[in-house]
Amino acid sequence: MKPRVLSGIQPTGSLHIGNYLGALKNWVRMQHDYECVFCIVDLHAITVYQDPAELRQKIEQTAAIFIAAGIDPQISSVVVQSTVAAHAELCWLLTCCTPLGWLERMTQFKDKAAKQESIGDGLLQYPVLMAADILLYKANAVPVGDDQSQHLELTRDLAQRFNALYGETFVMPETKLPTIGARIMGLDDPTKKMSKSETGSGHAISLLDEPSVIRKKIMRATTDSNPHVDLVNMGPGVVNLLTIHQAFSGWTDDQVKSHFAGMRYGDLKKTVAEAVVAGLEPLQKRYKEITADPAYLRGVLRESAARVTPIANETVNTVKQRMGVYSD
Ligand code: TRP
Repeated sequence: MKPRVLSGIQPTGSLHIGNYLGALKNWVRMQHDYECVFCIVDLHAITVYQDPAELRQKIEQTAAIFIAAGIDPQISSVVVQSTVAAHAELCWLLTCCTPLGWLERMTQFKDKAAKQESIGDGLLQYPVLMAADILLYKANAVPVGDDQSQHLELTRDLAQRFNALYGETFVMPETKLPTIGARIMGLDDPTKKMSKSETGSGHAISLLDEPSVIRKKIMRATTDSNPHVDLVNMGPGVVNLLTIHQAFSGWTDDQVKSHFAGMRYGDLKKTVAEAVVAGLEPLQKRYKEITADPAYLRGVLRESAARVTPIANETVNTVKQRMGVYSD
C-alpha cells in the first residue's frame, strides 16, 4: 500500500502561477508514489462570506484547473469537501476535544480576526476542520506551504490528545514542505509571496489569464533602479522574474545567468512573459477542453467522492464508538 497524501486549496480568488509552481506541480509529481486526495475546501472558504453563485462556479473552476494541471482523476481523488459529509461530522467530534486556547493562539486566526469587524466562529474553528480533513483519511503526509505549518502542528496535537483520551485512533500526519518548486513573489511587491487573496490587478498571474494580460502584467512588474540585469546586485523583483522564467523554461542556473546577464529590463520582461505564455498554454488548452464538457467534470467529482466516502465514514464511525456517542 502506498502512503496517503492529502492536501487542500480554497476555491476562492484565482489560482495563480505561484500556486501552480509551489503546489500543483508538486502534487502532480506525487501522484505515482502516494495515494493522493486533493480537496477543494469549500467549507473552509465560507468561514468568510462568499457570494453563493460565484463560490459554486469557483469550485468547478478549481477542479478543472487541478485536472488541467495534470492531476489524473483515475489515479488521484479530486474531492469537493462539502460533498463528503464526514468532514463536517469529524470536525464537530474533534471540536469537542479542542482546548479553546489552542485555537486562539493560531497566528492565521489572529491575522484574519484583526482585519474583521465581526469575527465568525468558523474562523476560529478553521484549523479543526483542517485537522478533520487530514485525520479523516489517516493521511501520512500533507504537502503545504510554510504558512500552514502551525495548523499541521495543531492537527498532530489534536490527534495525540484524542489518542491519549480514547485510545490509538489517528495516524500522525507529517508536514511536507515543498523541496522542489519555486516560491513566487507578487509582481507588484516582490517582498510578499504571491497571494490569491490579493486583489490588485498587477499582483498575480492567474493560470487562466490571456496571453495579452500576462504580457501586460509582466511588463509592469516592479524591478529596481538598475537599467539592466546585474547578477551581483539584483533586487527582489528581478530575482522573482528570473525564478519565474526558470520554473517555466526548466533552464539551469548557469543557463539563466549567462542568458540574462546585462540584459535590459524591458527585454528581460519580454523573454519572461513569453516563457510564461508558452508554459501555461497546454494547461489553458486542457482547461478549455475540460470546461467544454461539464458532465465530465461533475462525473469526476462524483466518482472521487464515492471512492473516498467509505474511508471517511469508517474513521467517523470509529471515532464515534471511541467517544461513546451512539453509532451502530
Ligand atoms: N488551510 C489550507 C490553506 O489555506 C487549505 C486546507 C484546508 C488544507 N484543509 C487542508 C491544506 C488540509 C492541507 C490539508 O492553504
